[in-house]
Amino acid sequence: MFLTFEGVDFSGKTTQARLLVDRLSREQAICSLREPGGTQISERIREILLDRKHLELTDEAEFLLFSASRAQLVREVIRPALQRGETVICDRYYDSSTVYQGYGRGLNLHSIRAINAFATGNLVPDLTIFVDIPVEEIDRRKSAAGKGYDRMESSGREFFERVRAGYCALCADEPDRVLRVDGMRPVETIHREILDIVARKTGIHQQSL
Ligand code: TYD
Repeated sequence: MFLTFEGVDFSGKTTQARLLVDRLSREQAICSLREPGGTQISERIREILLDRKHLELTDEAEFLLFSASRAQLVREVIRPALQRGETVICDRYYDSSTVYQGYGRGLNLHSIRAINAFATGNLVPDLTIFVDIPVEEIDRRKSAAGKGYDRMESSGREFFERVRAGYCALCADEPDRVLRVDGMRPVETIHREILDIVARKTGIHQQSL
């Protein structure tokens, strides 16, 4: 089983991914990952991508670096874990490229989809949870966090509006795989809903989760 979490920056998806990992790892072997990263090579690529000094990075190079990081992660970690029968939970995957580089930056969506398929060897998640918050909430949470922003988080409001619209389009295009949860509710409420969705998908009764 391969599960991914998606959402805009500050949506709370990382918290939800962690809660799900903690819950599921009581009963089964879980491989927990984040993108970009997860292998030595992918972590090096992550440093290039998030470095605020790299203002000259072109949109195309940015997309290909995310894809390179993912190509490495799929072959070095994700596929072997799935083959061992583990459940893989990944914080971001190729949907992030479709919405951030495609909808957000405006790169050609056909090219993005083709390269996503190539980079992952057509490995599609069984389930993708999209934790959704309104874009105004990003600003509120950013100022509450009060820390410096990485290169991606420094993008403007219109950018995040397009990213959010991209996620909503994915939910409409692939309703069986990409499911939206409302990220404005309390953490525990969202967690219960995600457990419910996972239980339905895996056919496991929630009490035993
Ligand atoms: P990170 O600090 O891991 O943020 P988050 O906790 O929100 O995932 O930084 C990852 C950043 O990279 C985030 O702004 C989203 C962006 N990103 C893309 O633009 N395209 C991609 O394909 C991926 C995986 C991430």
